[in-house]
Amino acid sequence: MTSVRLAPLAGVTDWPFRVLCFEQGCDCAYTEMVSAMGYLCAPRDLPAAACLLERDPREKKLILQLFGKEPDIMARAAEELSSLDRYEGIDINMGCPAPKIACAGEGSGLLRTPDLAEDIMKAVVKASHLPVSVKLRLGWDQDSINVLDMAKRAEDAGISEITVHGRTRQQQYGGEADWRAIAQVKQAVKIPVLGNGDIFTAEDGLRRLRESGVDGLMIGRGAMGNPWLFSQLKAATQGETVHQPTLHERMETVLRHYDMLLEWKPRRVAVNEMRKHIGWYLHGMRGAAQMRAKINLMDDPEQVKDALRAFEQETELT
Ligand SMILES: Cc1cc2nc3c(=O)[nH]c(=O)nc-3n(C[C@H](O)[C@H](O)[C@H](O)COP(=O)(O)O)c2cc1C
Repeated sequence: MTSVRLAPLAGVTDWPFRVLCFEQGCDCAYTEMVSAMGYLCAPRDLPAAACLLERDPREKKLILQLFGKEPDIMARAAEELSSLDRYEGIDINMGCPAPKIACAGEGSGLLRTPDLAEDIMKAVVKASHLPVSVKLRLGWDQDSINVLDMAKRAEDAGISEITVHGRTRQQQYGGEADWRAIAQVKQAVKIPVLGNGDIFTAEDGLRRLRESGVDGLMIGRGAMGNPWLFSQLKAATQGETVHQPTLHERMETVLRHYDMLLEWKPRRVAVNEMRKHIGWYLHGMRGAAQMRAKINLMDDPEQVKDALRAFEQETELT
């Protein structure tokens, strides 16, 4: 069975959103990336740090993603985090392109130091009693594509599976993900390979699966405001009809998402965070821009929810 997963998305894939994706058939999700150094140094009760580590009992399979560049720090963090018995795996981030991280030699910056990357993988595999995976990009830039070498090093280091985002660090999120390069990685190693990049519809996913032969798909931006992509992908891979959610289903989900965030985070934070999610949920709908502008001025969650219900009614009447 093909594994269809929710990508780690910093600032997006907290537990309320992950729960909604699991409800739609997502097989596995990743936490937002966690700094190994930050985890070891921050006071354990610091809310911002604790939030990243939370897991809801409704989550089926959750992998914690770590970033860092010191093998011993990564290993210590992995050992402690795996002993919490809260996650099904540890994933090493070797794909983040953000300058603050990549230019400091972490995330995709590790693609420029393959020996160090290998040391990190070996150290984390040794320290963790959970399976350890790695998320790679194709290379630092077009002139230094080294994903095949990195994948083989990962396999030799005892990594259990590899995800490949089919872009270089230099591309950031521009251009198109190169799924032929992902397919080459699948051919080059024996461990499972997941493909990642530009899956926005069930048809995209089905086509990429067939073309590349990967063992699973990881979905990032396509899931934002659209957890139904998971049930649609599942239906497509099983040859079933792909359904679009009704407007009412969409609105019910937005309201439930709001309630979960309100239950968990301080009201001001929840209101702020929901603004971006609502923007994604409404994306492409008639009147969405005006609705977003209106909601962005509201500080009272009940007022926002009423506005969403009114939006549903007005949209249904037109
Ligand atoms: C807002 C945002 C946050 C992200 N955060 C992470 C992260 O924490 N760790 C990681 O490995 N990748 C992160 N990524 C990259 C995604 O996991 C994924 O590789 C990328 O978006 C390509 O997949 P997509 O085309 O399906 O979006 C992030 C991407 C976005 C857009």
